[in-house]
Amino acid sequence: KSVLVLNGPNLNLLGRREPAVYGAQTLADVETICREACRTHGFTLDFRQSNHEGVLIDWIHEAGAAQAAGTLAGVVCNAGAYTHTSVALHDAIKGAAVHLIELHISNVHAREAFRQHSWLSPVAQGVLAGFGANGYALAIAALAMLPTGSKQ
Ligand code: DQA
Repeated sequence: KSVLVLNGPNLNLLGRREPAVYGAQTLADVETICREACRTHGFTLDFRQSNHEGVLIDWIHEAGAAQAAGTLAGVVCNAGAYTHTSVALHDAIKGAAVHLIELHISNVHAREAFRQHSWLSPVAQGVLAGFGANGYALAIAALAMLPTGSKQ
């Protein structure tokens, strides 16, 4: 099965963007971490980034169809700032009934008040935040532990 890793707005700037918060690793480094974790767990990797909300929504719909067809284990999603704003992403995840792990590089709960609310958390299987780029590997490990075929 495959794992879809979705990265939202501004994550293309990783490594240059606020390194004190997000670290020195680039999105290419994150992809390498994901590829290694997928190899460990026997998944193939589909790694994507977009700055556009609608594109992310289209990809979640696609993931729902792939999961229903039995070819996708689930989604790891760092929705960036759309986490805190996007009812549309919430509805897409719910509508597609996709297994999705919400992921944040930084510990959003130790940051500004506007980062405390997530539209993804109520429709995610689980949430990982604050483990830096290695969090992606933890999220892929979490997908490997989900009971297949059922959305809890
Ligand atoms: C982020 C946290 C969000 O609050 C922020 O808007 C991001 C990145 C993280 O990975 O820590 O763009 O999702």
